Amino acid sequence: MFDFLKSKPKSARPLFESLGTDMHCHLLPRVDDGSKSEEETATCLRILKAAGFNKMYFTPHYQFPRFPNVEEDIKNRFDDLKLDLATNGVYDGPELAGVAGEYRVDSGFKERLDNGRFSLIGDKYLLAEFSLHQTVVGLDQVLFDLQMKNYDVILAHPERYPYYSASSHVLEHFKNMGVYFQVNILSLSGFYGEGSRRKAYEMIEKGWVEFLGTDMHNTLYAQALIDSTYDKKIEKMLSKHTFLNNTISEPGMPQMPGAKKI
Ligand SMILES: [Fe+2]
Repeated sequence: MFDFLKSKPKSARPLFESLGTDMHCHLLPRVDDGSKSEEETATCLRILKAAGFNKMYFTPHYQFPRFPNVEEDIKNRFDDLKLDLATNGVYDGPELAGVAGEYRVDSGFKERLDNGRFSLIGDKYLLAEFSLHQTVVGLDQVLFDLQMKNYDVILAHPERYPYYSASSHVLEHFKNMGVYFQVNILSLSGFYGEGSRRKAYEMIEKGWVEFLGTDMHNTLYAQALIDSTYDKKIEKMLSKHTFLNNTISEPGMPQMPGAKKI
């Protein structure tokens, strides 16, 4: 009833064109807490394209025992999805550049490290995340061990860990070790609360953040991303800061602003 009174849904502005590449999302259907179907993935991809992204890396969760994903299976599912999108109508979303993972540093991580079982973003970066609830002892040792094995580590959404402040000495230590930081775009719009929003901006202002990612899980996140493209504060921040998203598919490693390699 009264359909004519409904306002037309807002579409995204291409605010994130300067980033170009999104390197963190959960849009491979049914492998984690992200997209539940090919249709949901296609909807999210269309919105990502409208928001300015032309290249996507998928990063499903690897988390023991909740998401016991296996790299070979994930790669096959990713190839199937690409085929599915290509054969079912005209696909005009962002290029699906590759599939990697978001690796939780948990009780299964040590074995993974010993076996070298990691799928890297653009064959370069290992995306790691910590628990969203409580810290564990020895995270710096894990990061050090990864670096000793020549992995270039990106820490996912440091602004979302409640046990680290934006002036955390632990985070500062990680930066001095040469760990890259990736902030979630939706943190900047307050999607995860005021605390994460404030910390995200503070870390960017300190020059600690090399990557922005959507961490998109589903159409709820996609709707929030549309809203964020109208956020004047995000727009101003993007005009002032440079990120490395677009360098992922370029050959070689970029210089790291604000971080020293040990
Ligand atoms: Fe994620």
